[in-house]
Order: sequence, then structure tokens, then C-alpha cells
Amino acid sequence: MRIDADRLWSDIEALSRLTEPDRPWTRRSFTPRFLEGRAWLARAFRDAGLTTGVDAGGNLIGRREGAEPDARPILIGSHSDTVPSGGRYDGILGVTAALETARALAEAGIALRHPLEVCDFLAEEPSEFGLSCVGSRALAGALTADMLATTRPDGMSLRDGLRFVGGDPDALARAARAPGSIAAFVEVHIEQGRVLENEGVALAAVTDIVGIARWRVSVSGRTDHAGATPMPYRRDALVGAAALIRRAWDMANAAAGDAQPLVATFGRIAISPDAANAVPGEAVLTLEARCGDEARMAGFCDALLADRADELAGLRVSARAQKISHAAPTPCAPVVRAAIHGAAGDLGLSIRDLPSGAGHDAVWISRLGPVGMIFTPCREGRSHAPEESMTREEAADGARALARTVLRLDAALA
Ligand code: HGY
Ligand code: MN
Ligand code: MN
Repeated sequence: MRIDADRLWSDIEALSRLTEPDRPWTRRSFTPRFLEGRAWLARAFRDAGLTTGVDAGGNLIGRREGAEPDARPILIGSHSDTVPSGGRYDGILGVTAALETARALAEAGIALRHPLEVCDFLAEEPSEFGLSCVGSRALAGALTADMLATTRPDGMSLRDGLRFVGGDPDALARAARAPGSIAAFVEVHIEQGRVLENEGVALAAVTDIVGIARWRVSVSGRTDHAGATPMPYRRDALVGAAALIRRAWDMANAAAGDAQPLVATFGRIAISPDAANAVPGEAVLTLEARCGDEARMAGFCDALLADRADELAGLRVSARAQKISHAAPTPCAPVVRAAIHGAAGDLGLSIRDLPSGAGHDAVWISRLGPVGMIFTPCREGRSHAPEESMTREEAADGARALARTVLRLDAALA
């Protein structure tokens, strides 16, 4: 079986050209540009001989049948959406490496025992709806009615967003897969860190995927004239937000040396009225906490608000938080990790174990069966930034490792 490094690289480049032109590399889910990427991928899946369609959860899936009719499918893939001004490889590498694996299997005339499904999961990155991993949650039966009812700033509901990408919010229950219904899931991804590059190691087998909790934090004060309101009368919501931001930074830094470090980010902020000459009356922020320890992650926002309660009261503002999402820390399955190590050995590629500080669709797919992830190096750990970079050979090694891992799992799993 031969992975075609040039073909894989030209797929990655073709997808990268489907970007918002003024903001590379941007292909946000639930946008026309995203559908352009999807149309390109669907054509490529079909050309690879895969039976291709969009499921109720908005996932693009291309399927190749296995020799044993009752065998459960092996799933491979990742996501084709990007963060705003994101990179060309985060998610995209995993989808194109899966596609290339399907093509290489077909060209080599290899019949697997298991069906193989190449997946492009919908909206892995948090979209304008605020929720990440929409498609993989749907596949796992974890996309709730509350989530479907969330709206983005233009008023569209996620329910309508699903229809926009070809999904069917009314058929989610039918499309969800049962626990135990997949043989395995394997995702190739750039490391988004510097360990592999610094150590000169070709691949990593992911041990655990970090947990992620997100909250919408609203700080309320009062809007007033920015010139005529003396300082002692002000109730500036943005100053209250600044106190929370600074304290979250300090709390997370204090946990930096822990066995399970915690990271915290306020990545979005909107103030109103957002005018040069008005005291901000309201600030709405998104807080994210990530940690391998679920309890510390889950309690972070409450701990932060309690810690700053006196300071906020002194500023005459109040803060409240609403949980947006919660993804538990997830271990990768020993059987998949072993197959990945075996694959690296087959290929003569160096490999080490690594935990993932990024979230991935594998977290949700782990409810359906054993999951594992293969990391490749990338430059200086840059990701979620246009500078994200890797080489053609690194991408090809990721695909080679994926293909070998599929062969090993196909032989090893029932
Ligand atoms: O945010 C994450 O960790 C992932 O890149 N979606
Ligand atoms: Mn990402
Ligand atoms: Mn990703």
C-alpha cells in the first residue's frame, strides 16, 4: 500500500485555497465557504470509491464496505472547519490523510474485514453558536435540544444551522450510533505543540485528551456618560471583567507546575454599548478552562467568581456565569495506542506517547468504541494562527501511520 505524498499535499493545498480571501486561513462552519470545502471533499470521497453522504448530524461520511458483512466499521478522519484566521492543517490533515488512506487501500486492492468510514465531522471548532464538536456529539447521541436551540448573533438557531449544512435536526436520534457500534476511531492531527519538533521525533501516540469546560460570563454594571459621570459613581462592567481576566490568569499560573496543569482563557469579549464615550454597562465574555482533572476544570469558573466577589462588589458590578459546554478528559484506548506504536515500528518511524492539550472529536467518539490519535510535528507549536505550518513529508508520515494503524486494527479487532 502506497501513500502518495504529492497527492495528499495537493489536497491540503486545494482545501487551503477555499478560504475567506481577506482572512486566510478561514473556513468557518455554517458558512458558504464551508460548504465549498464540503463540496470539494464530497467529490474527492466519491472519486476514491466511497459511498458518500451527509448524516443527520451534518457529518460528511464516505464509506467503503468490508469483507465481513457484520463487522463494525473502523472510523478515520477529523474536521475541515477552521478557527477565524486559523491554519491549513488543524483538522484538515486528519480528513485528507483519511481520504488518502482510502485511496491507497483501493489502489492496492486491499479488502479490509471491517467497513471503513472516512469522516469530516461538523464544526469541531467553536462556531458562532459557541459550541464545539457539533457533529461528533451528534454521532454520539450527545447533541441536546438545548444545544439545538442556541442561536448565533444573527439569530439563526443551531437547528437551522444543521439544515444549512445538509443535516436533519429532526432525525438526530435515528442517526446517533450506539455505544459499541464502531470497531475503532483513529484521527491524525498536528501536535499543536513543540515536543515532537524539539525532540526530532516523527510521531506521537496520544495518551489522553484534555477536558474542556466553557462558560459565558456576563458582567453587569450601568451605562453612563463617559465625561459627565464622576469616577465614584461609575459601575464599569469592563473593569469588572478585567479583574476576572487578571485573576483567572494568576489562578491558572499558580497551577502551571501541577501534575495536571490547568489552563484558562478568556478568548471572546463583547461590551455594550461599545462606544468611545460611554461607560460599558455590560461585558459578555467566554471563559474556557482545560485540565486533565475534571473536578478542577469543572469548578474553575465558580472558584474564580467566588474569589473576586468582594472586588466586584467594590466596583459596584455583578457577574454571573452560564455553562456552555463540558467535555470530560478522555483516555485513548490501549488497543488503538498499541496499533499506532506497531504501525510506527512497521514504518521505521520514531514515536513517543504524548497527552493532547487540544480538544478533538475523538472525545465524543470514545462513547462509541475505542479511540486513538496520531500526532505529527508542526512548526514551533503554532496553531489556531495563520502561521501554522508543517512539511509534505510530515503530513505523509501521518497518513502512512494512519494507513498502517488501520491494517493492524483490521486484523486485531473483532
Ligand atoms: O480548541 C481545541 O482544542 C481544538 O482545536 N478545537
Ligand atoms: Mn483547532
Ligand atoms: Mn483540530
